[in-house]
Amino acid sequence: MACQCGNGGCSSDYGTPAQVSEKLVTLEIDGIEISVPEGTSLMRAAAEAGVQVPKLCATDSLEPFGSCRLCLVEVEGRRGYPASCTTPVDNGMKVHTQTPKLADIRRGVMELYISDHPLDCLTCSANGNCELQDMAGAVGLREVRYGFEGENHLKATIDESNPYFSYDASKCIVCNRCVRACEEIQGTFALTISGRGFESRVAAGQNEAFFDSECVSCGACVQACPTATLMEKTIIDHGQADHSVITTCAYCGVGCSFRAEMKGDQVVNMVPNKNGHANHGHSCVKGRFAWGYASHPDRITRPMIRENISDPWREVSWEEAIGFAADRFKGIQDKYGKGAIGGIVSSRCTNEEDYLVQKLVRAAFGNNNVDTCARVCHSPTGYGLKQTLGESAGTQTFDSVMQADVIVVIGANPTDGHPVFGSQMKRRLREGAKLIVVDPRAIDLVKSPHIRADHHLKLRPGTNVAIANALAHVIVTEGLVDEDFVAARCETQAFNDWKNFVAEQHNSPEALEDATGVPAQEVRAAARLFANAGNGAIYYGLGVTEHSQGSTMVMAIANLAMATGNIGRLGVGVNPLRGQNNVQGACDMGSFPHELPGYRHVSDDAARGLFESAWGVTLEKEPGLRIPNMFEAALDGSYRGLYCQGEDIVQSDPDTQHVMAAMEAMECVVVQDLFLTETAKFAHVFLPGASFLEKDGTFTNAERRISRVKKVKEPLGGYGDWEATMMLAKAMGYPMHYDHPSEIMDEIARLTPTFHGVSFDKIEKLGSIQWPCNEAAPEGTPTMHIEEFVRGKGKFFVTRYVPTDEKVNLKFPLILTTGRILSHYNVGAQTRRTSNTAWHPEDILEIHPHDAEERGVQDGDWVGIQSRAGETVLHAKVSSRMQPGVVYTTFHHPFSGANVITTDNSDWATNCPEYKVTAVQVVKVTQPSEWQQRYRQFSDHQDDLLKQRESTKVL
Ligand code: SF4
Ligand code: SF4
Ligand code: SF4
Ligand code: FES
Repeated sequence: MACQCGNGGCSSDYGTPAQVSEKLVTLEIDGIEISVPEGTSLMRAAAEAGVQVPKLCATDSLEPFGSCRLCLVEVEGRRGYPASCTTPVDNGMKVHTQTPKLADIRRGVMELYISDHPLDCLTCSANGNCELQDMAGAVGLREVRYGFEGENHLKATIDESNPYFSYDASKCIVCNRCVRACEEIQGTFALTISGRGFESRVAAGQNEAFFDSECVSCGACVQACPTATLMEKTIIDHGQADHSVITTCAYCGVGCSFRAEMKGDQVVNMVPNKNGHANHGHSCVKGRFAWGYASHPDRITRPMIRENISDPWREVSWEEAIGFAADRFKGIQDKYGKGAIGGIVSSRCTNEEDYLVQKLVRAAFGNNNVDTCARVCHSPTGYGLKQTLGESAGTQTFDSVMQADVIVVIGANPTDGHPVFGSQMKRRLREGAKLIVVDPRAIDLVKSPHIRADHHLKLRPGTNVAIANALAHVIVTEGLVDEDFVAARCETQAFNDWKNFVAEQHNSPEALEDATGVPAQEVRAAARLFANAGNGAIYYGLGVTEHSQGSTMVMAIANLAMATGNIGRLGVGVNPLRGQNNVQGACDMGSFPHELPGYRHVSDDAARGLFESAWGVTLEKEPGLRIPNMFEAALDGSYRGLYCQGEDIVQSDPDTQHVMAAMEAMECVVVQDLFLTETAKFAHVFLPGASFLEKDGTFTNAERRISRVKKVKEPLGGYGDWEATMMLAKAMGYPMHYDHPSEIMDEIARLTPTFHGVSFDKIEKLGSIQWPCNEAAPEGTPTMHIEEFVRGKGKFFVTRYVPTDEKVNLKFPLILTTGRILSHYNVGAQTRRTSNTAWHPEDILEIHPHDAEERGVQDGDWVGIQSRAGETVLHAKVSSRMQPGVVYTTFHHPFSGANVITTDNSDWATNCPEYKVTAVQVVKVTQPSEWQQRYRQFSDHQDDLLKQRESTKVL
């Protein structure tokens, strides 16, 4: 629905999209002279001149369609009444938007619409926020001469199949906005107008219920609908909002901006912000609809403690819980040494919260034992890009994709993992950009409506580096290197070393064909397409990083971009698609054991000295423990205490049985979260976390874009996460004092060169800021490495392909690879507590028909998946999206135990786990695995212990 709240972020609707042209056209509208870019519609020109022309089928997020005939105008010297939405401006035009004749026509049009529309405005859920209602007023409709005796649609059935919105055909004016939104904005093409004339109606899929159609519930059609036909169920239930607050989605690394529409302190709707720099008014099902977890009854809102994890929980005051945690931590340090405790920072928390946790660990715990869940996804990005380009982050804005001529997607699934950016990419592809997909699986982009990948390099999992070297081989040996760029911008010796290396015959596509499984000619053709692109842009995801050669592959990608001159301008670049909302920020904030905020090594005396004088403590110069080292140390008895804020390591980290054994071995685990997560089941202290609706702070998305997260309601647990960290620091003997998270950002800005110019006030003023933001770039840096690389000259690295140790053999003949799905987020703790489970109630195993047939497996069968690390059981889905020999699953449900089977192999440089390659056997079974049965028992017991918690007076 069009926004009527008047609270910012919902700027007026200009009717048709803005045009980009240097040529201006001057005309007169209702006596007002206005100059607009060539190609602008009369409707938009009028709106820019402050004249509103009535409209129904037009909206400025969609191309004009010209169906409702409400926007007719008169143009001097022209016959008839052209539709202002589809008529472009012309020099010297004199346009009239309000004449008696036009008023007459418009009233007639409205009368026809209203004659087949339920007259239930006062009880309609859109009342006060309905364009049809507004237009009836605007055209002065006073009577409807045609009655309802004839044929009408008033008894049409309502489609309630979608959990989040309903479709009430009786209110549809067949304006086509929903159909166009699904096509132009979302790119799913789920809707059509079926039938003709009176029979016309909006149809999802093949005239199916919305839920059964291809619809992915992005909400674009609901947003575009000018009536109450497509309507959010929360609004039907709670009514229209009375105010709104601009904030940022807390799910994926796209970082969409939203208006939280509120009634008192209740959220009634999340509407994508038209002015959002990352999303431009679009959304996906998670950010748009799956926010109900924030008020789910499973939320734990009082601190709890217990002596042992076999004890029931005891609700206590914050003071007691914090005191208990601090006493235990201090006791552990006295007994086992300073390094026996540490902390884990979450990519779901804000920059300010992450900064404080690492400060707590370094300054109050006195060690560098701090790590982040970004370790398990994008640490190779940080390492690889720092080495080659000099900065540990992506190089572009999302909008840059609209200038790309060839798009390469490697090990990423943007339409599921980064849906709003996926839609933007699809729009560019429909405009004609070429597409190369490098992925073991046929992801949606390979073939979707109006999109076909030009090349799908369906490689074997674990052979990314081989493919990158083969592509490089073709580029070098066929003379496709951008020699000028390389000579001007890159280190010569390193380039020559790389060039000689990739030119070696063993790196040719032919030599590597057996290893990769990709026909050499396909590789050659893809390499030529990329290297000859005007603008070639590479996007990659966890299918690149979560490998034993993750860092090598990131460097290989940077090599390809540099060799072809595809870096340092719009439309090109190396673009990591970050998984969780604040993966970039968590890394920026110094959450790794070897790095202070701003990626400065702890052994760097000058950087350490800066923090020592600001924090008034002496800091350790040796790196601390990474998460896998914490587990090892817990098992060998030297690491006994953990503060884990907002992260569910038991579900998300590989080799679950090993992780659980380490957790059980610890003496004090403090978990701060929303729910009793799988990790919290091993905790001794539980501190209630704040949901994103209860937080003030910032998230940094995959484009380095820092956006505000705003508190729309008070934390249910009474304190923000940053306040809890401050309390713990004080109890540990290191008081920190901030009155508001903005003061934490001020400290980050003071101490971090790339953030020198960042403040809450500036973010508010600009909407968002892409770092670096400092004296050299006061308003931020959309595109990096323009004149020179951050490290000066770009550096090529020799990227030798080393096959993973995880080999298939007779016992484990298949490769399991993992990924995510649109409706769920990470470990699913949030999305499993929403109606998104309707789409994905469990994790399933996708298996190719040949592999399934060999094993007698059919769709829906229980299958046991055994690896060298463990065994789990899932339902099977036979799918030719897989290639023979490769099976696939997701990890959104704890009892699936996807990580019971992943091994502890990891990236050589960063320890990022090798989630993407596990040798497995798949067999038909009839019951859950032994681990699943044991875990079910443990988990049920923990749920019982939670239920038994004593209620004590805590306030
Ligand atoms: S919700 Fe999105 S995908 Fe579904 S029909 Fe509407 S626009 Fe299309
Ligand atoms: S459902 Fe809404 S947007 Fe779609 S045609 Fe009907 S009135 Fe227009
Ligand atoms: S999950 Fe990602 S794409 Fe979806 S609304 Fe949130 S930030 Fe945007
Ligand atoms: S708004 Fe122009 S024809 Fe509908």
